Amino acid sequence: MMIRPRRLRKTRTLRDMVRETSLSVKDFIYPLFVKHGRNLKEPILSMPGQYQFSVETVVEEAMETWDLGIPSLILFGLPDRKDSVGSRSYADDGIVQQAVSAIKKMVPEMVVMTDVCLCEYTDHGHCGIIKDGHVDNDATLEVLARQAVSHARAGVDFVAPSDMMDGRVAAIRRALDDEGFSDAGILSYAVKYASAFYGPFREAADSAPQFGDRAGYQMDPPNALEAIKEAILDIEEGADMIMVKPALPYLDIIRRVREECLLPVAAYNVSGEYAMLKAAVEKGWLDGTRAMMEVLISIKRAGADLILTYFAKEAAVLLNKNRM
Ligand code: PBG
Repeated sequence: MMIRPRRLRKTRTLRDMVRETSLSVKDFIYPLFVKHGRNLKEPILSMPGQYQFSVETVVEEAMETWDLGIPSLILFGLPDRKDSVGSRSYADDGIVQQAVSAIKKMVPEMVVMTDVCLCEYTDHGHCGIIKDGHVDNDATLEVLARQAVSHARAGVDFVAPSDMMDGRVAAIRRALDDEGFSDAGILSYAVKYASAFYGPFREAADSAPQFGDRAGYQMDPPNALEAIKEAILDIEEGADMIMVKPALPYLDIIRRVREECLLPVAAYNVSGEYAMLKAAVEKGWLDGTRAMMEVLISIKRAGADLILTYFAKEAAVLLNKNRM
């Protein structure tokens, strides 16, 4: 007798029956960029198929996203002006605040999230307040908390701090509760590495640091135990969900965090992961659809419950058609 694993692969129906991991449109959180202006939908060159929207067009995009069955989106803002402390990040008439309330008005059931960080709002492009040439942790916490509260005032469901300051989840949780927003949740970018794969995003969000890099606050890529430490700290500080970012070069980290923690784990399939696949497809070197689905299922298989991905709409169209 010979063991023949191929019997289970014989037909499409059989393969479907024994499939261990599945992908659903419900797994997706769709990242969108918003800026001031009217009726804008400006292509982001390094991210084919992605755009910078203004408020009216982002609402249309949110409605389309919702109609595809995608339950959630996360907003990134490009302010009308930048300064050293990122003051436009917590303005009630700020771009993210406007977009959140417009989207919640038109698609109230959608789970709207916002990135909470300073890098898009500071003239130096760092994720916090600079003192003596360094990002000052504790001075930054205050601004992040103000930003989170202003998003909550606009009606956000979850704020997602991506700055990697120590103690920011606790500071944001306290501020939200003090201001009466105990229902607003926190999806913490708990495990965020200092990665080359954010390159295209920094063009999309105009957020590249003007001096130095982010290695003094984002995590060092060779570290794995530190990922568990960061995740546990954020959970203790009150995070409702945690994130690992980027996804593909850190699938092992997603698996370990999933096994060590009890909260929903999200993974961010970041701009560089999207751009490199799109670029190879443009050159005719990869089958874009198959590569996209393989990437997304790998992130699920690694243990992610949710995936932040620029592929969300494209994959949803396919999933809705094929019930793959
Ligand atoms: C803001 C932020 C970044 C990303 C999400 N939030 C950029 C960075 O840390 O430099 C990257 C997302 C992506 O690359 O798709 N701090």
